[in-house]
Amino acid sequence: MFVSKLALCLFLLFKFAIGEDPYRFFDWTITYGKINPLGANQQGILINGQFPGPDIYSQTNDNLIINVHNNLPDPFLISWNGVQQRKDSWQDGVHGTNCPIPPGKNFTYHLHLKDQIGSFFYFPSLALHKAAGGFGGIRILSRPMIPVPFPDPAGDFTVLIGDWYKTNHKKLQARLDRGIRLPPPDGILINGRGPNGASFTVDQGKTYRLRISNVGLESSLNIRIEGHYMTLVEIEGTHTMQSIYDSLDVHLGQSLSVLITADQAVKDYYIAVSTRFQRQVLTTTAVLHYSSSKQPVSGLPPDGPMNIDYSLIQARSFMTNLSASGPRPNPQGSYHYGSITVTRTIRLANSAAIVNGKKRYAVNSVSFVDPDTPLKLADYYKINGVFNLGGITDYPTDAALHMDTPVMDSDHHAFVELVFENREYWVQSWHLDGYSMFVVGMDRGDWSTGNRTRYNLLDAVPRCTVQVYPQSWTAVYVALDNVGMWNLRSETWERRYLGQQFYLRVYNPVNSTRNELPMPGNALLCGRAAGKSTLI
Ligand SMILES: *[C@@H]1O[C@H](CO)[C@@H](O)[C@H](O)[C@H]1NC(C)=O
Ligand SMILES: *[C@@H]1O[C@H](CO)[C@@H](O)[C@H](O)[C@H]1NC(C)=O
Ligand SMILES: *[C@@H]1O[C@H](CO)[C@@H](O)[C@H](O)[C@H]1NC(C)=O
Ligand SMILES: *[C@@H]1O[C@H](CO)[C@@H](O)[C@H](O)[C@H]1NC(C)=O
Repeated sequence: MFVSKLALCLFLLFKFAIGEDPYRFFDWTITYGKINPLGANQQGILINGQFPGPDIYSQTNDNLIINVHNNLPDPFLISWNGVQQRKDSWQDGVHGTNCPIPPGKNFTYHLHLKDQIGSFFYFPSLALHKAAGGFGGIRILSRPMIPVPFPDPAGDFTVLIGDWYKTNHKKLQARLDRGIRLPPPDGILINGRGPNGASFTVDQGKTYRLRISNVGLESSLNIRIEGHYMTLVEIEGTHTMQSIYDSLDVHLGQSLSVLITADQAVKDYYIAVSTRFQRQVLTTTAVLHYSSSKQPVSGLPPDGPMNIDYSLIQARSFMTNLSASGPRPNPQGSYHYGSITVTRTIRLANSAAIVNGKKRYAVNSVSFVDPDTPLKLADYYKINGVFNLGGITDYPTDAALHMDTPVMDSDHHAFVELVFENREYWVQSWHLDGYSMFVVGMDRGDWSTGNRTRYNLLDAVPRCTVQVYPQSWTAVYVALDNVGMWNLRSETWERRYLGQQFYLRVYNPVNSTRNELPMPGNALLCGRAAGKSTLI
């Protein structure tokens, strides 16, 4: 009797230890369809008929099996902003890692949400598809046994904010192909809706979570709620110190969660979203609707902040709650990024220039050109001439901008200080696939080694996407422990499309599935890898 119970216990322990994580299956059909978020009919990208696409609800360690059927007449890929895809850049869904899904074909992504929680989003990564939709929210909940540092909210809303053009995405793309900058956006959408189109219903006295992501193309945004404060609780998968804000800046590609309590008189209130750091401020509103309210929104929505220093001070106030739960980089919860020796410093400066009469953007003077074969496949099959390994320096050069397809190499296990240096007058937003970067410092002016003395080495928030203010710098620490080929890109879509990106190859000479998962059996082959065997 005792023995069999013990055996059962051991069996359960064993099963728990090696048991497979749960699976969730998604079947998505991608089509063009008519949408009119700003009153004009335009061609949108729909997922299962929806704009924006469906939210992905998931839990730490889930396996997401997402079968994407491309019914567009164009090649298509989806990427997962902030989902780390441990050891598996094969699933990243950007041009450098995956062949486009051809028209009429499908591809099944296998995402393993290893040790992650938080709020993220997905988006279409090719061409200017993002200007037509195809994006949606991703939420990764903590497992039931893991305490969350705030009570369960009465409701949990996805709030996708982003600037928007009424112009067809192919026209916008053609304009960039001619080397002409995008015009200012026509408006801002909240969950795919124009002014007061989106409404969030709350009961008086209850508390709600909003998961806010900037899914736009060109604009940093500010969000605020008439008559209500927001308590920041999570940034891109980290539980933060719960500070209170009356407005929050969300830069391109960033995500965060706030709690709001419906503690005001019963009526409707504006949720206002405006562009930041632009001469002409665009504002839109959604409605916070108290369930028994009969009084619609009225008057003017609350004004947003104006200056850059306000945003900088706010950004510096974000801190990790070190005593709160949450999957942290290994070993769980005991990660002291501030006491690890930096093994390499990489300084990256963005720039712009006119090349042959066309606008181009660059990182350390190199403007990225999409190759004919995904870099990941070229690397795997050892196809020469697709990319230039080491074709980008670790520091800004004064060289004239030139075009290339650079890949930066790094050893697996390097611990890197990355400094983003912005000498231009535009705010920048940088994203690194596959990783979280500890945002240890940012300031106006030029970065100098002396600035290291004031880095936050204790409770900086790790992020997948960081902003760099105009004529400013941002420094991050990142442990390059995720083997693969990873896109480091501007989240300003015009800049990315016209060259402000490259790939980071995190390499381990030992070919082992402990370091990197093998090429999936369903991998699509194209370019110079077409016709190769997937069973190398
Ligand atoms: C395409 O979808 C079918 C099922 O509809 C599936 O069996 C197949 O594996 C998918 N193809 C790829 C490349 O993922
Ligand atoms: C930090 O997390 C702890 C543990 O969950 C929680 O009790 C505390 O209120 C949090 N502190 C702040 C300032 O968010
Ligand atoms: C960075 O260094 C510059 C020049 O030494 C200094 O003026 C500035 O205050 C420093 N900023 C921070 C945040 O340490
Ligand atoms: C890597 O190892 C696997 C399994 O041992 C083997 O099948 C494959 O050929 C190796 N790949 C390369 C590129 O060496």
